[in-house]
Order: sequence, then C-alpha cells, then structure tokens
Amino acid sequence: MADLGITIGSIRMRSPIMLASGTVGYGTEYEGLIDFGTVGTVVLKTVTLEPRAGNPPPRLCETRGGLLNAIGLENVGLEAFLETKLPEAAELPAPIIASVAGTSTSEYAELARETGAREEIAAVEVNISCPNVERKRKPLWADPAGVGEVVAAMRSETGKPLLVKLSPNAADVVSVAEAAEGAGADALVVANTLPGMRIDLGKRAPVLGNVTGGLSGPALMPVNLALVWQVSAKVGIPIVGSGGVASTDDALEYMMAGASAIQVGTALFMDPSLPGRMTRELKERMEADGFDSVTSYVGLARKGRMGCREMARAD
Ligand SMILES: Cc1cc2nc3c(=O)[nH]c(=O)nc-3n(C[C@H](O)[C@H](O)[C@H](O)COP(=O)(O)O)c2cc1C
Repeated sequence: MADLGITIGSIRMRSPIMLASGTVGYGTEYEGLIDFGTVGTVVLKTVTLEPRAGNPPPRLCETRGGLLNAIGLENVGLEAFLETKLPEAAELPAPIIASVAGTSTSEYAELARETGAREEIAAVEVNISCPNVERKRKPLWADPAGVGEVVAAMRSETGKPLLVKLSPNAADVVSVAEAAEGAGADALVVANTLPGMRIDLGKRAPVLGNVTGGLSGPALMPVNLALVWQVSAKVGIPIVGSGGVASTDDALEYMMAGASAIQVGTALFMDPSLPGRMTRELKERMEADGFDSVTSYVGLARKGRMGCREMARAD
C-alpha cells in the first residue's frame, strides 16, 4: 500500500498535500468543492490581532503565467476568528493550521499564545510579510535577527508546531531560514509570493488598487523551487514547498528538491478538484516507482549533489 503519510513537527499528516493560506479563506467557503478528506492540512487565511479592511480594489488580476493579489491581509481579527471562524473550520475533515501575522514581537507572541491554546488548531504558520514596528519598520521577511526574535517569543508561548513562511524577496533567504530554525521553528514554508504589477493601458494607470501585488501561480514555481533546493541544503527541519503547484509532477519536483510537503494555492481557483486528483496520482506514481512511502521522494534530486554554498561558488 502506498503510504502518503508524512510528519511535520508533531503533526502526522495523511498526505503531503496542504492548502495554502488565503486561497481557501476559512475553509468552509470551499465545502463541497474541495475534497478536504484527502488533504494533509488546511492553512487558514492569515489572522492579525485587530480586524483589517485590506487594500482598496481591484485586489486581483491575472498575468501571464500567474496571478497578482493585493488583498492586504483583510481578516476579521483574532477575537472573531477564535469565536466564529475557527469553530466552523474545525468541522472540516482535515487538520487546521492557523496563519498569523503581527507588526511586533509582542503581537506575534500573543497570537501564538491565543491560537496555540485552541485544540482545534494543529499548528501555527507564521506569516512574516509585515514590517516590524519595533525594528524601524524593517520588513520582517528581510531581517534574520527579527525573525529569530519573533520565533523565539512564539516558541515560549506554545508547544504547537511552528511553521515559518519565508519570503522569496529576502536577499539571503537561507540566513532567514537558519534564524527561524535556530529559534525553534519546526518547519519552513518556502515560500510566499514575489512583488509584481500590471498597467491598464486604457486607464493609463496601475490595475491594482494597491499598485503592486504578490505574484503567485506557475511563474513563481522555478523561483521558489530553487529556494527549496538552497534552504534544504542548510537546515535540518522539514520544508514545505509553495509556489505554483498545479499538478502531481510539480509536487514531485518540490519534493525531489528537498520539500517534505507542498502547498496548493492559486491552482485551486481553476480546479478545486486538484487535491483529490493529486492524491490519487501520487499513489499511482509511488506504485509505478516501487516506493512504499512518499518520503522516499524527499531530496531525491539532491543525492550526491553539492550544497547551496558550493553551488553559489560554482556559479
Ligand atoms: C488570493 C490570495 C490570497 C493569499 N493570502 C495569503 C494569506 O493570507 N497569508 C499567506 O501567508 N499567504 C497568502 N497567499 C499566498 C499563498 O498562500 C501562497 O503562498 C502563494 O500564493 C504561492 O503559492 P501558489 O502559487 O500555489 O498560489 C495568498 C495568495 C493568494 C493568491
């Protein structure tokens, strides 16, 4: 029997296929469309301490090979999330991961304490896309020391697994990854979106209300795949690949590069049946490859290869 099970921190997942934060809202919006019974975990939309209205519209636009989004972390805030959204999401037949974002270390610590205390939540994903007001508004994703401080503070507030979601924008993503691991992260999500924009020629103005947005979808995959390759050469904790996964082959590329699991996001907008189909196809592929466990694919393309520091020198 092909075993799709994998372990991340203390979460045993029945499948390496996770649903990416923000692309399935609080989960319930997609009931009846996505086969939640097959997915490893569902990462809910990022929640902040206070409610956020998000960015002015338009917030989404398609681009060649991807999607630009400038949602601006619109969310109901922690209190309403814990009272109304979480109990509903907990009815889904899949473990739930809360995604949190703050603007200071103390905010992140509070978010970890409050979400980690809820039994409906299997783990906490740390969205580091905001500026840190305590560190001269430096974007957290670009600040290894700031990330270390935030993760250490969260670690002291909860025993639940912490998954830190890195940004491909950082000049040195490996240093941010190492800081997160050193501070007690259980896993890394590699990675979030890249900034991009489009111009409306008729209006002679940016398409998005926020001017720029995050690029997701197929165009992002080679960028984040290279980061998985580089980060997995330097850290010992599991890596979750994110960016452009739209097929079983994409998932296997991330796994062979060093990811233990993958997240599906933008591709769900075109095909909500994708996770169910990928689950079936992964099993078929394992049988064809003669593998009992899906973990056999992890890092397969790395075997006998040099690490990223050596790669950087060789370039
Ligand atoms: C509409 C939309 C909303 C998103 N909202 C969030 C969010 O709230 N928190 C977060 O960490 N990432 C968010 N993301 C990023 C995704 O979780 C994912 O990391 C990214 O889109 C790359 O994966 P993909 O190409 O498979 O979509 C969002 C992406 C999209 C397209």
